[in-house]
Order: sequence, then C-alpha cells, then structure tokens
Amino acid sequence: MNKLSRAALLLTLGLTFTTAPLHAQQQPPAPTPKVMQDDPKMKAFIDNLMQKMTLEEKIGQLNLVSVGFDVTGPVVSQNVNENISKGNVGGVFNTYTPIAARKLQELALKQTRLKIPLIFGYDVIHGHRTIFPIPLGLAASWDLTAVERSARIAAEEASADGLHWVYSPMVDIARDPRWGRVAEGAGEDAYLGSRMAEAMVRGYQGTDLTKENAVMACLKHFALYGASEAGRDYNTTDMSKVRMYNEYLPPYKAAVDAGVGSVMSSFNDVNGVPATANRWLLTDLLREKWGFKGFVATDYTAINELIAHGMGDEKEVAALSLKAGADMDMVGELFLKHLGEDLKNGLVKQADIDLACRRVLEGKYRLGLFKDPYHGVSEKRAKKVIMNKEFIADARDIARKSMVLLKNDNQTLPLKKSGTIALVGPLAQSQRDMIGNWSGAGDWKQAVSLEQGIKNVAGNAVKIVYAKGANIADDQQMLDRLNHHGGELVLDKRSSEEMIKEAVQVAQQADVIVAAVGESQGMTGEAASRADIGLPGQQLALLKALKATGKPLVLVLMNGRPLTLTWEDQNASAILETWFGGTQAGNAMADVLFGNYNPSGKLTMTFPRSVGQIPLYYNHKSTGRPYAGTDPMDKYKSRYLDEVNEPLYPFGFGLSYTKFEYGKPELSTTTLGQNQPLEVKVTVRNTGNYDGEEVAQLYIRDMVGSLSRPVKELKGFQKVMLKKGESRTLTFRLSPDDLKFYNNDLNFVAEPGDFQVMVGGNSRDVQMAGFKLQ
Ligand code: BGC
Repeated sequence: MNKLSRAALLLTLGLTFTTAPLHAQQQPPAPTPKVMQDDPKMKAFIDNLMQKMTLEEKIGQLNLVSVGFDVTGPVVSQNVNENISKGNVGGVFNTYTPIAARKLQELALKQTRLKIPLIFGYDVIHGHRTIFPIPLGLAASWDLTAVERSARIAAEEASADGLHWVYSPMVDIARDPRWGRVAEGAGEDAYLGSRMAEAMVRGYQGTDLTKENAVMACLKHFALYGASEAGRDYNTTDMSKVRMYNEYLPPYKAAVDAGVGSVMSSFNDVNGVPATANRWLLTDLLREKWGFKGFVATDYTAINELIAHGMGDEKEVAALSLKAGADMDMVGELFLKHLGEDLKNGLVKQADIDLACRRVLEGKYRLGLFKDPYHGVSEKRAKKVIMNKEFIADARDIARKSMVLLKNDNQTLPLKKSGTIALVGPLAQSQRDMIGNWSGAGDWKQAVSLEQGIKNVAGNAVKIVYAKGANIADDQQMLDRLNHHGGELVLDKRSSEEMIKEAVQVAQQADVIVAAVGESQGMTGEAASRADIGLPGQQLALLKALKATGKPLVLVLMNGRPLTLTWEDQNASAILETWFGGTQAGNAMADVLFGNYNPSGKLTMTFPRSVGQIPLYYNHKSTGRPYAGTDPMDKYKSRYLDEVNEPLYPFGFGLSYTKFEYGKPELSTTTLGQNQPLEVKVTVRNTGNYDGEEVAQLYIRDMVGSLSRPVKELKGFQKVMLKKGESRTLTFRLSPDDLKFYNNDLNFVAEPGDFQVMVGGNSRDVQMAGFKLQ
C-alpha cells in the first residue's frame, strides 16, 4: 500500500497518526533544590578562573582517570602522576583512604599552574566500608528511611575516606533477570524506583555539599541501560518514546528533581544513537526539559566504545560525545588526546569545550573544593567514622528489612532455638559472597556468614551439623573467571554424589535442614548475564536429595536477581530470600530465621517460573486477547502452550510470620474533578500471632485511554507496624497528577474516564474499588 492510500484508509477508519507538537506539555521540572541552584558567586569565580586557563588546562578538567584499587573495564589509566602534574586530569576514581587521596590532591595543588583541585570518585553502591544489602535487596525493604540511612552512612564513610563523589544511585528499570545488573537497581517499577532514587540522593548529598560528610551523587546509567536486549550486558535498547517516558525515565527524572549533582551516561545505544553520543538524551531531555544543572561523566571508556558502535574514528567520537553533552571522559582519554585537534579542524567549538569545563568546575565548586580541596578529610575522622558500632547495628537492621519470605508452610519458620540444625549448602559459610558485587571498599573478611550468624543468635542451645553439599559451580573455567574478578571460591574436588551423600547423612541427624543456596556474588552485577537463571551447579540435585530425607527443608537464598524456583517452591517447607545482605548478612539472616525479626520485605522484581516468560512484569498491558487462565482449551489467547502466564512470585510479594487482612478500599468520592484530590482509606488487620510490619500497596488502572494502559500501576505504598490483633485504617491520597501519563503526543495528561483503585499486600492479591475522573 502506498503512503497516500494508507492515509486515506486511516482517515476513513477515523484514525490519524499524530506526532509530538513542538510545545508538548511535559511534566514541568521541579524547583531546583538548593544544592544545585545557580549561584552568582560561583559564576564570577569560575569566569575568573577560566579566563586564566589555557586550552590544554580546560581539556585536562574533562579527563577522569582510574588509579588505585579497582578496575571495571578492559583498560587502565596510564602515567597518572605525570598527567596530574601536567594539569591533564580533572578527576580520579578508585583511589581512597585519606593518605592516598591526599597524596594525589597534593600533586594537583603543588604541581599544576592553577592549583585546581581534583574530584575523587568511587563506586560506592551499597555502602562504602560498612556494606548494606545489594540495591535490589535495599529496595525490597520498601523502607525509604532505611534506604536513605544506608546512603547517609555510605556518605559518612566515603567522605571520611577521601572521596567526594559516588557513582550511585543506579536507577535503571529492569524487567529481565538474565541481566546481572538487576542487582544494582531497585527493580522493575518506575514509581518505586523514583522514590528509591530520591531517598538515595538525599542520603548521599544532604542539603549542603560543602559539608565534610557530604558526597555528590552520580545518577546512572543514563539512560535505559536496563532494557538491554535479551538481558545481555551492554546490548542494544530500542523502545517507543511513550514507553520510555512512562515506564523507564521517571526514576532518572526523580533523581534530577531531587538535586543529583552529576549523571553518568550509559553504554547502550538508545534507539540507534549510543547514549554517550546522544544529544537528544544528554542535552535536550536532561538539561533543557528537566533542568539538570550538574555535569555528565561518561561510563568507563564509553567514548572509545562509540567506535565499535559504528559512530566514527577516535577524533570523531570525541567530538560527537562532547557536543552531545558529555563533560568528563572516564578512562578513555579521547578528550585529552583529540579535542585540541578537533577544535582546529572545526569538529568542536571553543564554546563546547568551555561549557564542559565550566560544568566540571561548577561540580567542584559546589562541593567546596576550591575552599577546602581535602573536603575535611583526616585520618582521625576516618578512624572514628568508618564501621563504627552504630553503623554496624544499622547495617544489621537494614539487612533484616530487605529479606523476603517467599514460602512458609506449616509455620516452619521461625525456627526454635533448640535441637539440631543441618546447615547445608555452598553459601552457608561464605563471607565473601555476603557483601555482594560492587562492594567497593568493603572487607569481606569482616562479613558475618550464615553459620556465624546462627551461632551468634541461637548460641549453644542449637547444635549445628554442617556439610557443603555442592559447589556453587563445578566448572573450573567458571570458577576461575569468578575468582579472577574478586571471587574467593574453592572447588571441592569430591564428586557431586559424594558431597550430596555426606549432606544427606548430616541432614538425617537433624530436626530441620537449613540449605544456604543461590549464586556467587560474581554471577551478578556488571558483565554477569545468565541465560539460565536457576540455581547454578548441582544445588538443585542437592535439594532433591535433602527433600527425600523427609525433614523440614528451609531454603535460605542468596542471590542478586530473580531466579526460577518452581521445584523449590513446590518442595521446600520455607524459602527466605536474603539477597547478598552485606557486612551483617549472617546476623540478619539468623535474626529472621529465629524470629528475632519478623520478615517484612517484598519483591520489587517479578520472579518468573521459567526463562521463556521473560520479560515478565506486573504492569503489563492487557492485549486484545488476554487469557484468564481458566480454560485450557482456549486457544487464540495471549499465552504459552507449555507454560502459564503467571509468575512464580509477583511484584510486591512477601510473607510475614503473621497474617494481614485487607478491607475493601473506601473512596472519598467516586467522581473526581481534574483538580480534586481523592482519599482512599483501607483497613489492614494483623490477624496472626506475631507483631509485624506490612507494606500496603496501592495500584490504579486507567480503564479506557487514548493509549492502552497497564493492567496495574503502583501509585503509593505505606509500610506500617501492626501489633498482633491490631488493625489500622490507612489513608492514601491520589491527585489527578497521579493519574497522568504520557500520551502519544508526549503530553502528560490525565484522561477523563473510569479508573480502578486496588489495594493489597502484593500486586496480585488486591481489593478493588472504582471512580470516574471528570
Ligand atoms: C560501570 C559503572 C561504574 C564504572 C566505574 C562501569 O563499568 O558500568 O556502573 O560506575 O564502571 O567503575
């Protein structure tokens, strides 16, 4: 069909294509938080400084080098001291401790002509020295105070350790658990992800970046990295703008609105244009639409990788990236190498270089580095602050809050503090895995293993008998690879049969089996995609043999992504998801297992039944042929022949040792005006035998729209403590703004019509009411 006849057909059908009008009504930028406001004094100071700077000195500010402890890419920075002395470096990452940071800062201050201080960055992702649960676990707490506290403690420690800048929060929405980096973010939901992003920015930055205990946050990875195709790291992302705006971009925007000081561009391409060379993304959207005023650093050698993306040669990609809006080149040194020549050849303008330089200098100014280049760092403060008792106690509490009880038949949990426990599994004694991936400066030797935690909590009253039962992976190549990148795995050379036999013998002596199974930390995080997301190695075979003993079987899962656990769900007596819980993981797990803490976490990523269901997420569309799941003969429906549509554990799911019952939501009105708020009241009752916390979740569904709308969208949650027998009426407030979405013209609108409100303890089991927006 040619274009004309297609248009004519659409007209006769009453359908038209619309494109975004020039002045689409987007969500207005929030008022700039104080830390990021324009400051005439800053402007005057930087104007004055830049007048004195040579072209080389300006380009030097755009160069970010890695030196010190960790390397996260294939290349390492060379000749760092020499480059710092020459003024060829603006920032350094991977160097910490007051002594090491001071040494490099002194080089910059003493050797360079203009004495511009360096900015010191690091991957502080879930704690600095005191390590908290991986971010996916932190999010599962649904506890914004706890998440903010974890970031605050990380900031206290990082700043005391000579750092000014942390590469967090990572807010990439992720719906594909094959992607190893789902461990680093808050999961699949844009609303929850936004609240988590804000909490982390607040925690790191506080309200005054010049304070010695504040660090600048770096929002990453901008943007859409979590949508990498097939869950394969660094892969392509391609999606409609409508999906982008509604489902993937909100957490980045929330962090910008919360005043994040810097942004990291991502590795992936976005609809064909790699993020690091994407002017629409880094300038039009981020700066012009959202009002971001900080600086943009690229990800690790991301400018160099533009060559492999097919964007040009070294000179061209350096120019492309700068003009797109990248200000700092992480490790790749292409800005350093080529921008001077690019300027001569007309590939970039002086103004492009000046702008990037100004933004980097502004970042340093905002941190107060021109006044105090050491940002108050001292060994004395480091000693006092790092891993102090209060932080350790908070790490234990936050870890408990992150754990999710997935199954608990016959009240197998909590365990009694008596009798014999068979502690089995490759993770039972592990300390290294407890602090997870991206644990920065965390010392795994100070982490508490599950075995130690059980001893600490249950004391001598419980007898523990132990067997490893299985290796986490039996393949030497896999182990070598994991160990090469920071693992501490030792291969037990016995055959799998021998190991399982020993575990069964041990289990037979016990009253209950606690099986510590899951992934090794290096199977998650960057460059750790998995095509099969079941328990690796012979762990499932181990569990099957343990099950055959007939003893109650409690699984304590340690892992960084949703796993496929259908056999486990059918056969285990109880399952506790503990992620990688951090420095205090073992104590926290034991607190939950023995009932010193009643679990309250809820999943923030759907657990599929099988890999074939991926991507699987709660806020999907209905499709024209939704399958109710009731009639197996129902052929022409959106379904699989060999698998159900439902997940194993839905988004928002998590059990408690007590039970919560929800009443029907009561609405303050059933017809809502465009400017009128709506109150939703719901009574939650603790009907079980324990005091406990519940996360009450509110979802809406827009029943009819100009675009098909998700079957559910989270719009609010409250975490409440209810004593045994207590009931409480919770009030949620929805404003018409909460009903808005980006329509096909990318206007942010609330469309009149019918809505459903759903409230419940997870995204599946909800009570419903309806209202109309006029
Ligand atoms: C990762 C970033 C990280 C950076 C610096 C990259 O490989 O994608 O998340 O911040 O390395 O270590």
